[in-house]
Amino acid sequence: MHILITGGAGFIGSHVVRHFLNRYPSYTITNLDNLTYAGNLANLTDVECLPNYRFVKGDITDGDFLMRLFEEQRFDGVIHLAAESHVDRSIANPTAFVLTNVLGTVNLLNAARASWQSNVADKRFYHISTDEVYGSLGNEGMFSEKTPYDPHSPYSASKASSDHFVRAWHDTFGLPAVISNCSNNYGSFQFPEKLIPLFINNIIQNKPLPVYGKGDNIRDWLWVVDHAQAIDVIYHRGQTGETYNIGGNNEWSNIDLIRLLCRIMDAKLGRVAGTSEKLVTYVADRAGHDLRYAIDSSKLQRELGWVPSVTFEKGLMLTVDWYLSNTGWLSNVTSGSYQHYYQEMYGGR
Ligand code: NAD
Ligand code: TYD
Repeated sequence: MHILITGGAGFIGSHVVRHFLNRYPSYTITNLDNLTYAGNLANLTDVECLPNYRFVKGDITDGDFLMRLFEEQRFDGVIHLAAESHVDRSIANPTAFVLTNVLGTVNLLNAARASWQSNVADKRFYHISTDEVYGSLGNEGMFSEKTPYDPHSPYSASKASSDHFVRAWHDTFGLPAVISNCSNNYGSFQFPEKLIPLFINNIIQNKPLPVYGKGDNIRDWLWVVDHAQAIDVIYHRGQTGETYNIGGNNEWSNIDLIRLLCRIMDAKLGRVAGTSEKLVTYVADRAGHDLRYAIDSSKLQRELGWVPSVTFEKGLMLTVDWYLSNTGWLSNVTSGSYQHYYQEMYGGR
């Protein structure tokens, strides 16, 4: 079994690569990543020496390169995570999202189709997507696999588009595709542009915590290790042509989550209770900010028996411990171009 994992040097991808290498030593895992600001081979130092691991630096927007790679390697399966993934960056530079998330996905579909032709019985193209394609909920209800797509940000529009192309390649060309749409992930190796690692880093450095709007937006948080486990289950046992929602059944308003994080950080850093919360600074809201995401993952639980393994409190504690023990990793990824990004995004704060 030879699986191509795209975006394996990123946050979720590195957990998926690690999970598959450790769990399936007989599989060959090729990690294809072009190492954007979000891709970091330091996320994989514990597994990079394994004999069944290979890394290829390459760009999925380059269709000819992908055709050649698939001709040389003869992959049995693809787990596609490579993407531009941050909503705020998609507001600042939407075109990069169209190129990587839409064109890059179509290039991969073309390469897989050309390589496999009609010999698809034991093949699989697994596209990793987000709950943000479903849009925004009010106070009631949850996203199911049947919820109509209603994306609002350039990021979610590009992911929605890529999902449609994957379904089109399944329906039109018989490509053996499966899709999952997951809620917000958190855990180790997440780039500190997303809420939780950004705020952990700022608390360590006593910098303001920029809360968008009133902090009352709601997200459903899932520990990244549990996402990797769900991806394993769906890759091996999901029905071709189906979609599976993945979520933590774990809704938090941003401000409640931030208060919990501040309490954990005060305790871990030996600071007086309440110190970190004083860093909370309300800033202008994100344009088009989705109010609430909540995922109904009962199909995945019922059909494939997956359930999250940790409570949010436990997962967040493990996550904080990891960042505090890996300040070298943090300072490495926040040097250089990160400083420019931070200045552009948050000004002098
Ligand atoms: P990330 O930004 O941490 O990593 C993305 C990876 O893709 C990086 O390693 C980057 O170098 C690589 N990449 C980007 N453009 C590329 C290109 N043109 N060619 C090759 N490689 C390229 O993202 P993440 O948070 O790990 O998300 C991974 C996937 O999961 C994405 O498809 C995202 O939409 C989806 N997802 C993320 C979340 C979340 O909470 N982070 C939730 C649901 C779904
Ligand atoms: P984020 O981690 O960017 O994920 P997403 O936008 O994909 O859900 O943001 C999570 C929530 O936190 C979202 O409602 C926006 C909010 N947020 C802030 O309030 N301040 C910040 O600096 C960031 C990055 C996010």
